[in-house]
Amino acid sequence: MSFQPPKGTDDIIAPESQTWRETLRLWEDWSERYGYALISLPIFESTDLFERGVGETTEVVTKQMYTFADRGDRSVTLRPEGTAGAVRAYLNSGKQGVWKAAYSGPFFRYERPQAGRRRQFWQVGVEYLDTASPVADVEVIELGYRFITATGLSDVALLLNSIGDQVCRPAYVESLRRYLREREAQLSAEAVALIERNPLRVLDSKADADKLLDAPRTLDHLCADCADHLEAVKRGLETLGIPYKEDPALVRGLDYYTRTAFEYVATGLDTAQNAVGGGGRYDGLAEAIGGRPTPGVGFALGVDRIMLALGDPVRPHLDAYLVSETGPEEALRVASLLREAGIRVDFDVDGRSVKAQFRTARRLAAPVIVVWRGEGRLVDVQTESERAELPLEEVSSWFSRE
Ligand code: HAM
Repeated sequence: MSFQPPKGTDDIIAPESQTWRETLRLWEDWSERYGYALISLPIFESTDLFERGVGETTEVVTKQMYTFADRGDRSVTLRPEGTAGAVRAYLNSGKQGVWKAAYSGPFFRYERPQAGRRRQFWQVGVEYLDTASPVADVEVIELGYRFITATGLSDVALLLNSIGDQVCRPAYVESLRRYLREREAQLSAEAVALIERNPLRVLDSKADADKLLDAPRTLDHLCADCADHLEAVKRGLETLGIPYKEDPALVRGLDYYTRTAFEYVATGLDTAQNAVGGGGRYDGLAEAIGGRPTPGVGFALGVDRIMLALGDPVRPHLDAYLVSETGPEEALRVASLLREAGIRVDFDVDGRSVKAQFRTARRLAAPVIVVWRGEGRLVDVQTESERAELPLEEVSSWFSRE
């Protein structure tokens, strides 16, 4: 076959796809527990939305967007992130008051592909709109943390910072600009081009990072309201017992952030892609895209990166494989009864030999084989030892006991 998946994209198939499926199920459960309703938004949006929402000088917008003219000559972009679209959807809905939305789906960035850095990747995330309360920030951060922990990832650090707001940010940006101008000669041409337009973005530059270690930090320039907000977030996390580390260098790569910024870092992954998720507050985003003032906070987690950090899959997608000694039609009837009882079971439809059916069961990594010849004989697939001989009506209760 001469076709390969496009560079930076993946086919997700079994057995890895089972961990993926369970992670997304877990996400449905956790996001629902915290009161987030599901949203499903367009995968492409008007290019302007991202230019104005995410920021024209961000790397995401300048280098990573899949932008094209459609047949009606409109410029559209495959969504590189979900926040701008979610805020647009809220504003378009005409709804008022707090709005809690959860999403799960593919996103697209033209990146240099490597493990954990894909051109098509999957995010799950939430947005909590029309509240400026720091308690919302804490709730959002808590959900991300609890969900990541529930997936089984243990080595995760939560990094926290505040990047100020429209009151204190201008003075900070000016002091950063002065600092960068003094070092212009040592900086990359790309960084120099950003000094006047958007100096905060220079701090994201990987090429320049080691020259900027003593750059002014937002934390030293916060106004009283931003400082109080940060204190309230920290207090809330402490009350909930969520460990965090303040990281004054954390600025995030998107322009819409104000005040709270955070990242979840999987300490076991390479530093280039060890952020399994990130988020923050974005009180000015709704206005930047032409809407009424609507404060908000949220995060997105990278499912591809969570998979990478979790390592080898542990659970098969089947509870049992049904090996029939009495042919596929009888197997169909028995499988149907077992499935009705909630057992994940599969069987051979082609009338293969018992030996061949055993081989398939092993290939599919089913932990148990139900051998059927008028009644069920349960066989451990690893040891091939018999575990029980039961009438059909007791087979399903055997599974629920195990
Ligand atoms: P982000 O930090 O750009 O934030 O992305 C969030 C997460 O998506 C990252 O931490 C990473 O795990 C994953 N991710 C991003 N790019 C890639 C990629 N190329 N390949 C694999 N995984 C990737 C946002 O997107 C914001 N919209 C988050 C947010 C929601 N802020 C407020 N609300």
